[in-house]
Amino acid sequence: MSSLEQTLSIIKPDAYERNLSEKIKAIFIKNNLSILKSKKLHISKDEAAEFYKVHQSKPFYDQLCNYLSSGPIEVLILEGDNAVSKNRELMGATDPKNAKDGTIRHLYGISIDKNSVHGSDSVENAKIEINFFFKIS
Ligand code: CDP
Ligand code: MG
Repeated sequence: MSSLEQTLSIIKPDAYERNLSEKIKAIFIKNNLSILKSKKLHISKDEAAEFYKVHQSKPFYDQLCNYLSSGPIEVLILEGDNAVSKNRELMGATDPKNAKDGTIRHLYGISIDKNSVHGSDSVENAKIEINFFFKIS
């Protein structure tokens, strides 16, 4: 069954600094995810900590927050049929070593932390994450 959804994508600092934003956005568009809104920003460590608070008990949390706040990023609202799962498929596995051929993380990811993109993992979290970055309800 298809349902029209929105999801949040982040082009993380490692991809942004290698000027991969346009290439990554072209992958979304080619796969029928439209970019409703986008913005470039450089968040603080406190903002990264708030965004990633579901991971606060994980051993990699502090490093993850340092990393996401280490440089400019681009945040995107993607919209399309089954956008949440489609974006996750296009991203590939968290660790680029395990990401399938042709996925964004396979193409561009450097390591499990510098894995180029974030994508919401559920419709509910997509709403929370879109609201976090775009302050819309
Ligand atoms: O991003 P994704 O949803 O695929 O993975 P996650 O389990 O929600 O973890 C969030 C982010 O934490 C990942 O994208 C990695 O950048 C980072 N991470 C890490 O640095 N080391 C790990 N062992 C697991 C995740
Ligand atoms: Mg996740």
